[in-house]
Amino acid sequence: MVEKGIQWNEAFITGIEVMDYHHEGMLEKIKELFDVLDKGQEIASIKALAVIFGSFLASHFTLEEMLQQKFAYPDFSSHSNQHRWLSDYFSDLIPLIDSKSTSPDFVTVTRNFIMDWYHAYVSHINSQDKQLAEFLKTKL
Ligand SMILES: [Fe+2]
Ligand SMILES: [Fe+2]
Repeated sequence: MVEKGIQWNEAFITGIEVMDYHHEGMLEKIKELFDVLDKGQEIASIKALAVIFGSFLASHFTLEEMLQQKFAYPDFSSHSNQHRWLSDYFSDLIPLIDSKSTSPDFVTVTRNFIMDWYHAYVSHINSQDKQLAEFLKTKL
């Protein structure tokens, strides 16, 4: 199934190349997650992809936070709090997969979780990341 809305588009561009490169890569990984779910692949493969995505996400947040600290970004605290929230939110995926792996609604529940998380993440890109990018453009 092609996931409507899980598509990189120009509206996500912040103008800071390294951030955009990461964001685009992470959206591709989310698409892969949906792909393995839809193909009915083994739980171990789905979990492996979720773990890889989680570490990608952690490195991306670290990079943004390093840039914020380097240039004394005034909204560091609220931005990094939202990163923690998004990380914690995503980390509920593995326990969800474990608890639902034998359930008939496994694919639906997992898809819904990832889609809800994805919407929260895109909203972060469109608000806090874009604000950060505008700030960085004055410094880089
Ligand atoms: Fe970001
Ligand atoms: Fe961010």
